[in-house]
Amino acid sequence: NRPIRVALLGAGSVGSQVARILLENAEELAARVGAPLLLTGIAVRNVDAKRDVDLPKELFTDDAERLILGSDIVIELMGGIDPAKHLISLALSTGADVVTANKALVAAHGPELFDQARRVGAQLTYEAAVAGAIPIIRPLRDSLAGDRVERILGIVNGTTNFILDRMHTRGDSLEEALRIATELGYAEADPTADIGGYDAQQKAAILASIAFHTEVPVELVHREGITEITIEQIERAKAAGFVVKLLAICERVTGSDGVEGISARVYPALVDEQHPLASVHGGNNAVFVQAQAAGDLMFYGAGAGGVETASAVLGDLVSSARRRVNGGPGLGESTHADLPVLEVGEITTRY
Ligand code: HSE
Repeated sequence: NRPIRVALLGAGSVGSQVARILLENAEELAARVGAPLLLTGIAVRNVDAKRDVDLPKELFTDDAERLILGSDIVIELMGGIDPAKHLISLALSTGADVVTANKALVAAHGPELFDQARRVGAQLTYEAAVAGAIPIIRPLRDSLAGDRVERILGIVNGTTNFILDRMHTRGDSLEEALRIATELGYAEADPTADIGGYDAQQKAAILASIAFHTEVPVELVHREGITEITIEQIERAKAAGFVVKLLAICERVTGSDGVEGISARVYPALVDEQHPLASVHGGNNAVFVQAQAAGDLMFYGAGAGGVETASAVLGDLVSSARRRVNGGPGLGESTHADLPVLEVGEITTRY
C-alpha cells in the first residue's frame, strides 16, 4: 500500500516522543497498519529551539499550513486554542484525519470540530486528551456505549495527584512537590492550570460529554483546585482514614424539582483509604466508572508524561491509518508472522 502521510504539529514533551517512536518503530507500525506511516514534517514555532529528543533537522518547518496540505493524517500537539483550532479545521477541510491531545480545544470547541469531521468523513480522535496513557475515551465512547454510565470518579491530573501524594506520604510542601512534578514533565506550561483545577475541569467536561452522550460546557463544571490545601488538612484526613484526592466527579443526579440531569465537578475530596482510588500514587491517574450493567470498572496508569502520553497519540494514529488502509480495524489484524509463540518450560516470573 502507498505510505500514509503524517504531519506533526508541535514538538514538546509529547510531540518529540511521538516523532521518535514513529521513526524508530517504523517497520513494526507499517506491518500493523498495512502501509508505511511516513512522517512528512514537524511544524514548530522555532525550528532552532532545543528539543527533548534528537530528531532529524530536515523534518522541522515553521510553515504548518503548507505541511498540512497533502497530509493524510495530522497530529496536533501544540496545545492552546490558537492557532491549533484553525489548523485542525484546515486539516479536516482537506479530508485529513486529525489526532489531537488538546483537551482545552476539545472541551471548548469539540462539537463544531466533530461536526466538521463528520461532514467530510474524516476521523478526529483525542484519546491522549484525558488521563495521558490510559485508554478511557474509546472505552467510554465505544465499549460502554451499550451500557448506562451512572458515575465517573476520576483522578485525571497527574501533577496534583503527585503533589497531594507527596504531601500525604512525605509531608512535602505544596510548592516543593510542584517543583518536582514540573521537573518530571507532568505540569502544564502554566501550572496554574493544574493546581487551580482547570486542567481537570476540561477533562471532566470531556468525560461527562462522552459518558452521558451530551454536550457539557466547561463553564458548567464546578471547579476548585488544591491551592488552599494545607499539610494540616492532609494530616487530619489521614488520621481519620482518608486520602485527599483532586477528583473529577461526573454523575447522574436528580434535582430538587425532580428533573433528571447530570452534575460534573472538580474539587479536593476525601477518599476512603480502602477505596481503589486511594492507592493511586505519584503522577498516575485513574478513572473509576460505575455503569448499570458492567458494575464498577477502574482504568489506571500514567496520566502525564511525554512518552506515556505519546502511546495514546500513536494508538489514535494507528486507528486512523488502518481505517484508511482497510476501512477499519477488522478482526485478527496486527499479526506478525515472524513472532512465534514460545513454550516456556518453567514459570519463573513473579508479578
Ligand atoms: N498537566 C497534566 C497533568 C498533563 O498533570 O495531568 C496531562 O494532561
